[in-house]
Amino acid sequence: MENTAPSIPRTHHAPPRPKTDGAPASHPRALRLIQISDSHLFAHPEGRLLGLNTRRSFQAVLALALDGGTPADGLVMTGDLVQDETAEGYAYLARVLEDTGIPCFCIPGNHDRRDLMEEWLGAAAMGPIADNRIDGWNLIFLDSTLPGEDGGRLTRRQVHHMDTLLQRDPGPCLVFLHQHPLPIGSAWMDTMGVTNGAQLLAVCDRHPHLKAVICGHIHQEFSVSRGHYQILGTPSTCFQFLPASPDFALDARTPGYRELHLHPDGRLDTRVVRLAAYPEPLALDATGY
Ligand SMILES: [Fe+2]
Repeated sequence: MENTAPSIPRTHHAPPRPKTDGAPASHPRALRLIQISDSHLFAHPEGRLLGLNTRRSFQAVLALALDGGTPADGLVMTGDLVQDETAEGYAYLARVLEDTGIPCFCIPGNHDRRDLMEEWLGAAAMGPIADNRIDGWNLIFLDSTLPGEDGGRLTRRQVHHMDTLLQRDPGPCLVFLHQHPLPIGSAWMDTMGVTNGAQLLAVCDRHPHLKAVICGHIHQEFSVSRGHYQILGTPSTCFQFLPASPDFALDARTPGYRELHLHPDGRLDTRVVRLAAYPEPLALDATGY
């Protein structure tokens, strides 16, 4: 695909700064957190993947998520933010996130440039391991990406640091990362998960206040229970991969996002919400992208 990037003034539009204070819970209701993943945006407004304008699809999913009746308290983006890894793509995303007016937390995927994320998304770009409190809940963000690789890996330091964070604070906790930490039953996709995901899950197994490990990358809904917590995957805001397929295959299911309702007593309710239809036709017979 050839795109001519539009000229965007080099002005930073940093999204709202995530709340990082340790203030006591002030929400009598459950917190409403939105997870959006794998937007695969381009610098050019008409940038497309598999026939789909990824900005248009992202905007449609975000509008659906923000129009959920109850105001959203935060937005998590779990990687593959900008497909062509351009400053213009991140500048566009920064403006959109700023317009939401809510705290935003972004982690990189294998289709991202960490330096550009930090430059354009400011405080919304999470570091290699980041710990944020949103009312009584802790949100841990892990950068699982490896430069030049589709699969991911966590460093020993990240795994150890996460263990320390979980020991230190007994509050309910969610962990977010891009690649999936265990096989999802799709052979081609399972060649590019987190290679040492078992180490991550071994730490999670030891901390009963951990409620879920939540990934992007797999472009499909996924949910499995493992003892006291869930491992969750979420649709992309653009094209979807067919679950359980041994080879690359697209799914006709529509783009969507994940609702996460974080109750004051530590309960987590979650579900995936999808668009009623694709914003425009998708090349479903594609054999790659
Ligand atoms: Fe992706």
